[in-house]
Amino acid sequence: MLTDNHGRKINYLRLAVTDRCNLRCFYCMPEDGLNWLSRKQLMTYEEMLQSCSLLVKMGIEKIRITGGEPFVRKDIMKFLTALSELQGLKELTLTTNGVLTAPYVADLKRIGVSSVNLSLDTLDAGRFFSITKRDEFANVMATMDELLKHDIEVKINAVVMDGKNTQDIIPLVELTKDLPVSVRFIEEMPFNGDGHVYTGLKWDYVRILDEIKAAYTEIRKLDDTQYSTSYNYKIPGYKGSVGIIAAYSRTFCGSCNRIRITPEGELKTCLYDNGVMNIKDQLRLGINEDDLKQMLLNTFNTRPKDGWEAEHQRAGSLGVHESMATIGG
Ligand code: 5AD
Ligand code: SF4
Repeated sequence: MLTDNHGRKINYLRLAVTDRCNLRCFYCMPEDGLNWLSRKQLMTYEEMLQSCSLLVKMGIEKIRITGGEPFVRKDIMKFLTALSELQGLKELTLTTNGVLTAPYVADLKRIGVSSVNLSLDTLDAGRFFSITKRDEFANVMATMDELLKHDIEVKINAVVMDGKNTQDIIPLVELTKDLPVSVRFIEEMPFNGDGHVYTGLKWDYVRILDEIKAAYTEIRKLDDTQYSTSYNYKIPGYKGSVGIIAAYSRTFCGSCNRIRITPEGELKTCLYDNGVMNIKDQLRLGINEDDLKQMLLNTFNTRPKDGWEAEHQRAGSLGVHESMATIGG
């Protein structure tokens, strides 16, 4: 079993396979996009597979593929298929914006993907356009249909943004009436890629919950699973459930079981840290597996205790300003 210096189990890797995306969610990246990484800067599929294979041997049980948008990277299905065959990996999941995903759903099912997180902040096509700058709402809904048809668990990630989509909170909860989906409301984090200063959070998890409770007095708390980052609820009689993720307030760090690898191969032991070592660089220097394992263990033994400490330790006092697309969420 893999543990950190605070006694927390580490069994979950989030791997971002590209920084590129076909949407421009304003809370994630500027409308012009980012300075995309070059092919050479990206980890190759072989490097990712090698890293995942070692980490699974060390104790990682679950891998989530993120981006950017995973399906904009060429040959992603081949990579996912290879990953799904890793001995010892118990769960392979992914996070997608759903724009290109629908045609791949049957293949995802076939390789054993049992759960998909779909990023969707509104059920209104016009607001979808104003948030993402792309007219792709229908494709995202088609992906949701396909996933449900194939009996793949669907979690919808909705970032709650003051002045942008708070009117969508209740309609998104209503989606759980007839559909067995879990709608999770996420506090907006300062990872918008343009460095604009972040002035407080108007919609924190308490306010989001109050808004929902006011509309559904009968709402019930569900038991949260061991490493859950969300507080989960259910409206009695509804098929799905509702969750709230305090991504900015960071209430879940005490049981954090996750590490991240960015598209450039940077290892993060906290979402809010600056990267603690570069795995791709080590692989390209020809490091052997034992030495790489030792370097990884060292980083797990010097993990900050929570996201506040990690943010504080970052070089400079600028705080976080990179895009979520270069981290993977
Ligand atoms: N704040 C909160 N969540 C974000 N995501 C992307 N950028 C932000 C942000 N600034 C979420 C998206 C996606 C997941 C990978 O990260 O909703 O579902
Ligand atoms: Fe793309 Fe996801 Fe960022 Fe939106 S939040 S721009 S879908 S990577």
